This record gives sequence, C-alpha cells and structure tokens, in this order.
Amino acid sequence: MIFKNADVVFEDGVRRADLLVEGGKIAKILGAGEGGGPFIDCTGLTVFPGFIDMHVHLREPGFEYKETIETGSMSAVKGGFTQICCMPNTKPVIDNKVVARYVVMRGKEAGLAKIHPIGAITEGQRGETLSAIGGMKAAGVVALSEDGKTVANTKLMANAMLYASDFSLKCLCHCEDASLVDGGVVHEGYYSTLTGLKGSVRAAEDIVIAREICLAESLGLPVHICHVSTYSGVQLIREAKARGVAVTAETCPHYFTLTDEAIKDFDPNAKVNPPLREERDRLAVAEGLKDGTIDCIVTDHAPHHEDDKNVEFAYAAFGISGLETSFALSYTELVKKNVLTICGLAEKMSAAPARILGLEGGRIAEGMPADLTIADLGEKWTVDPAKFVSKGKNTPFGGREVYGRVKMTVVDGEIKYREEL
Ligand code: DOR
Ligand code: ZN
Ligand code: ZN
Repeated sequence: MIFKNADVVFEDGVRRADLLVEGGKIAKILGAGEGGGPFIDCTGLTVFPGFIDMHVHLREPGFEYKETIETGSMSAVKGGFTQICCMPNTKPVIDNKVVARYVVMRGKEAGLAKIHPIGAITEGQRGETLSAIGGMKAAGVVALSEDGKTVANTKLMANAMLYASDFSLKCLCHCEDASLVDGGVVHEGYYSTLTGLKGSVRAAEDIVIAREICLAESLGLPVHICHVSTYSGVQLIREAKARGVAVTAETCPHYFTLTDEAIKDFDPNAKVNPPLREERDRLAVAEGLKDGTIDCIVTDHAPHHEDDKNVEFAYAAFGISGLETSFALSYTELVKKNVLTICGLAEKMSAAPARILGLEGGRIAEGMPADLTIADLGEKWTVDPAKFVSKGKNTPFGGREVYGRVKMTVVDGEIKYREEL
C-alpha cells in the first residue's frame, strides 16, 4: 500500500512524498508520485507520525459505565492516536501483573490503537506499600504512576524511583500536596472568590514538582511530571533541566487553551485536576512547550458519566474527555498561533512520548512501524460532544471552532479509523 502525494511531517521538515508500507512497516520513502501499485491518495493531506498519548484514563476494569478499553480505543483512533498509555486508577487498581495483563489483552481484543498499561506505584494506590513492579513490567506496563494522587510519603517515593529504575521504568508524577489542596475544587484566585468555590493554590502543585525534582536530582534518576498547569511549575522544571536533572514534563490542551474563567458559570465540564489557572499560567505553559521545558502534550483523557459530572460543581468528578479534541486544539492554539511549527507539534505529540517511555514509533522513517495520522489541516470544524465516540461527553470545548481534522489513522499499516464521508 502506498500513501501517495502526502505532505509528510519528518523530524526536520514537511516534504511531499509517497510512503510505501509493507508488512506493517514504512518500507520505503519515495518522491511524490514515484510509487506504483495500490495507493491511497493523500493529496492535500498531512501525514504525521501516529500520535502517542502517554496519559489517558480508560476506566476498565471497574468503571465501564464511564469508558471501556474498546470505547477508549475507538476514541483514540478517531483523535489520531496510534498508541495510548492508560493510568492505573481503575477498580481493581492496575497494581499487579494480573490486572496489567488483562488490560493488555483487552487492548488487543479491541484491536485499534496500541494500548499500554501504566502500573500503580503503591498497592491499591493507598500510598503504603510499593506494588510488585517486576511482575507488572513483565506483563507490559510501560511506566509507573499514582495518577489521581501524589505518593505523600517522600521516602516511599524515593524507593519507588529506585525500584522503577531497576526495571527500566519511569515514575510519572501527579503533583498535588493534599494538605494544601484541602478540598479545593478550582484554582484559588478571582474566580474562586467570585463563585465561592473552594480554591487550591499553585503551591499545592509546585511543592510536589519541586520534591520530585529534588528526589530525581539526589538519586540521579529520571522523573516525569504530569499535567503541568502553573507558571511557577514550568519555571521549576526549566531551572532543573538547566542544571542537568533528568526531568521531563507534559501538559494538556486545556492548560494552554483555557483559564479559570471557564468555571465562572459553574460548568462542571471545566472542573479538572489540577485546576484551570490564570492567563499568566496559560501563557507560561505555552512558552514551556515552545522552549522545550515541557516535552510533550497528553490529553489526561478523563471520561466521566453524566451522573458523575452533571451535578453541583463541588460534587462533580474532575476531568475532561480529551482524545477527540487534542490534536485540533493543539494545532489551532499552538501551530496557527506560531508557538510551534508542524514539526514541533509532531515532536510533542509523537516523538517525545515515544522517547520518554521507550516506545517504538513516534517518527516517520524507513523501517519504523507504519503508525500514521492523516489530517486535513485546512478543515475547520466545531466541537460537538454528542458526536464523540468516547462514552465521556464531558468537555468544556463544546461549540468551539477548531482547525485540523483527523481523516485517517493507520496502525501497523492497517487503517483503524477513516472519517465517514
Ligand atoms: O482531572 C482529573 N481526572 N485529574 C486526575 O488526576 C484524575 C482524572 C480522573 O481519573 O478522572
Ligand atoms: Zn493526574
Ligand atoms: Zn490523569
């Protein structure tokens, strides 16, 4: 199969080419129009290395009413993702090889995007005892995380980094000092005062970012910071990188697209953890992406059922259903506004996550898996949660006009999603 006349996003630039795919791999990169044989005409379309989302919540096992591995997989390929990594805050928690194997198996049964489980750092995410890391690694976990929580005990976190590194795994840290958050549901600032909703300060996030950096520095081990939302957190990571700490970081489209103004009318769809912050933070997150402080874009896809979300703000679940809007929001907010180039966006959405987790793929080159995301960058569309294939319709972006539409998603040379005409 040949993907013909595409604008292909290579690491060093976008060039018109034909991609010859054989045996699930990119067999040959040919000049535009050079390839003969059966082909898919990609004229006018842009071919990215398949997007990789290293931070999603699939809710299975245990919360299948919110999302299943199958519906999450459908949502992933519709959003252009060829590989996704799912967080362990399921029921039971992914804290042992049995649950990890189950997720891998269900991912294969869904047969769409490649699904990689992330193991919990502690048993049951209770923050008391390290989980059995070796067995989980053998079962296919690609990282460890306590996402949804911070491992409060610093000594336990240090041990987690040490054990993780023995198994060539990284810890992905959700940074939140629970004593400071103290039940806060939004960012503490003008809009928390206006609404009377309980606020949470930047320091609640920054203190743990700083702690994880200190641990990584003192142990000489890598650490990855999840969903950075504060200007001060970006600065902590920038300074740590400058002195050689092996810290990497991610952010999500909502942190560079929205501010806490989105909660002024008590829209629970804008309730997310960490919370949407101020314009100063939004700009710093974008700047962090631009200057390399923030390595990658993830969705933190957090699908919730109507019954968990459409309730009084203080009681609503935290999270945004993100897989089907991430690419368009990122393209619209970052590329069209000259924060990143198209190659820069591919770095943040494909190459960097592959590198951080040691996954195969993430770039277009001969011999790489034929994981491709084919998009129409000129197409303008309006976000309509009713059209999401994810069970989670919870998005604060409903009605927003965006650019960049995923037309086709190819995994190991097979078309897993194609937009209906
Ligand atoms: O908003 C969030 N939702 N933040 C998290 O850390 C967890 C996630 C979830 O699991 O719903
Ligand atoms: Zn988190
Ligand atoms: Zn998360």
